[in-house]
Amino acid sequence: MTRLVTSLDEWQKVRAGLSGPLGFVPTMGALHDGHLALVRRCREECASLVVSVFVNPTQFNDPGDLEKYPRDLDRDRELLDGAGVDVILAPGFDAIYPDGFRYRVVESETSRVLEGADRPGHFDGVLTVVMRLLNVVRPARAYFGEKDWQQLLLVGEMVEAFFMDVEIVPCPIVRAPDGLALSSRNALLDTSGRARAAQFARLLAAGPDAQTVDAKLRERGFEVDYVEERWGRRLAAVRIGDVRLIDNVPATESPGQ
Ligand code: PAF
Repeated sequence: MTRLVTSLDEWQKVRAGLSGPLGFVPTMGALHDGHLALVRRCREECASLVVSVFVNPTQFNDPGDLEKYPRDLDRDRELLDGAGVDVILAPGFDAIYPDGFRYRVVESETSRVLEGADRPGHFDGVLTVVMRLLNVVRPARAYFGEKDWQQLLLVGEMVEAFFMDVEIVPCPIVRAPDGLALSSRNALLDTSGRARAAQFARLLAAGPDAQTVDAKLRERGFEVDYVEERWGRRLAAVRIGDVRLIDNVPATESPGQ
């Protein structure tokens, strides 16, 4: 039976009884098969497994987005119990931010483009909460999905920059049969939005280059935040109504820019 822990003191006591290596999957809840793929991989590679469920307010630059972010801890708990997770860590804001976010991790290059350009402060919030969670959980390995490619890159860089003793394990994107990358935000799409979201995934993969994809998306009425090739990937963000979706596929243009 998965244990639900909300206080950090209790977590430290529970942690002392867990056998290693300890694996960690950080999440903001509203779990889907993409998260469960991370959990399965973690289960295969680690003796004990903790999943955090914490909707991190500091990474939302838009208060409306934070408010409508899907939350369902009872359902998450059932899914994680079924997946053999040992502990769900679901702390409140004050537990994770005893300083009220006066102290934060700021990166000045990779975090300023793409998602960072469109969502100022987003990655300061992400890196700060990931650093705090890693320091609290102290796992041997932490699992991150490749759907958030820029986040994965930044977390890997942060761990190296601060000599943090944890292995970051990247896990492939999980897609629905029609190609849409699984995301908690997909739950916010209505039927026609969901069909358009699948079209987004298809156009992104079809190429042949970022510029053409951008033009095709706009032609079909998508509000495009960016389509760009960097780090060997073609990355894009679009808005469907008030739902913002991101995705990435291998790049075809010169990689590693
Ligand atoms: O990818 C996410 O769900 C979040 O950005 C993370 C890593 C859990 C930090 O809040």
